[in-house]
Amino acid sequence: MHPSEGAPPRRQVPPERHTATEIVQASTAGAAAVAVLRVKGLTKNYGNVPVFSQIDLSVLPGEFVAIVGESGVGKSTLLNCLAGLDTWDSGSVRLGGIDLGKLSDTARALLRRRATGFVFQAFHVLPHLSVAQNVALPLLLLGQGKDPALPLRVDAALESVGLDGFGTRLPQQLSGGQLQRVAIARALIHRPPLLLADEPTGNVDSSTATKVLDSLVAQTREHAASLILATHSESVAGRADRVLILRPDGLYSASRQQLKARVQEPPQTLVPLSETDRSAYGDSAARLHVMAERGRG
Ligand SMILES: Nc1ncnc2c1ncn2[C@@H]1O[C@H](COP(=O)(O)OP(=O)(O)OP(=O)(O)O)[C@@H](O)[C@H]1O
Ligand SMILES: [Mg+2]
Repeated sequence: MHPSEGAPPRRQVPPERHTATEIVQASTAGAAAVAVLRVKGLTKNYGNVPVFSQIDLSVLPGEFVAIVGESGVGKSTLLNCLAGLDTWDSGSVRLGGIDLGKLSDTARALLRRRATGFVFQAFHVLPHLSVAQNVALPLLLLGQGKDPALPLRVDAALESVGLDGFGTRLPQQLSGGQLQRVAIARALIHRPPLLLADEPTGNVDSSTATKVLDSLVAQTREHAASLILATHSESVAGRADRVLILRPDGLYSASRQQLKARVQEPPQTLVPLSETDRSAYGDSAARLHVMAERGRG
C-alpha cells in the first residue's frame, strides 16, 4: 500500500509542511480544473466496528453531488471525514490537491476554515450570538473581523437567503427553516470552493425544505462552489448532478430510476462509481468538464 494512501491521518503520518500560499491556493481550487475533492479507498471504523470501507469519490468544481443511504450507514461520518473534522483508518482525502491526512491539526483546521463550509442537520447556530454575528463567524475565524466591508457582506449574505432585516435577532426568535438559512449564509460567506451539507432540510416541513434547498443550490451555483449533500429525500437528491448511494462496502452511483426503485433493486445492479464515473453520467460529466475547462482559462 502506498504510504500516502494507507495510514490514519493523525496517529501515524508525520505532518506535511505546506506554505500558507499552498493552503490558500488549495482553498481557491474551485477556479481550477482539478477536482475540488478527491477521496481514495477511505475506510472508517469505530473501534472494532466497521462503518464504511473503500470509498472513492472525485468532485469537480461546481458539481452538486447527493449522497443517500440507509440511516446509520455513515453519511454524517463520511461528511465529517471529508471536512477533516473526523479521522479515518485508511485511504486518503485530498482537498484542492492537499492530502488532509498529512497535515498537522493546525494546518488542517486552517484549510477547513478557508476551503469548506458546513451546514449541519442540527444547525449548530450559536444561541447567544445574534443572527448577524453567527453569519460573520467564519470571517472572524479567518482574521477578517475588522474588515470594514464585513457588515455589508453579512447583510448581503442574509439577503441572499431571504433573511434581510433579521441580523439583530437572536436564534431563538427564528423558525427552524430560517435557522437553516442562517446556517447556509454562514457556510458560504467566506466563499469556500466546497460546501458540505448534512440533511439540511431534515428538520423542516416540505415547503420550507424547498425554500431552503432553493437557497442552497442558488448560492452554491452563484459562488461556483461544489456541493456534497447527504439526504434521505428523493426529491432533494433529484436536484443533484449526481446521486451516490453509500453502502458499508463503498459508494455506488445510481441512475434516477435506480434511486426511485432502490429499495427493490438488488445491490449488484448498482455499478461501483470508480468504474463508471463519466460514462454513466455522460451529459452531466460533459457539462462539468466544460465548466472545468472554462475555469482553467
Ligand atoms: N462516536 C461514535 N462512536 C461509535 N459509533 C458511532 C459514533 N458516531 C456514529 N457512530 C456509528 O456510526 C454509524 C454511522 O453513523 P452516521 O451518523 O454517520 O450515520 P448516518 O448515515 O449519517 O445516519 P442518519 O441517516 O441516521 O443520519 C452508526 O452506526 C452510528 O451508530
Ligand atoms: Mg446522519
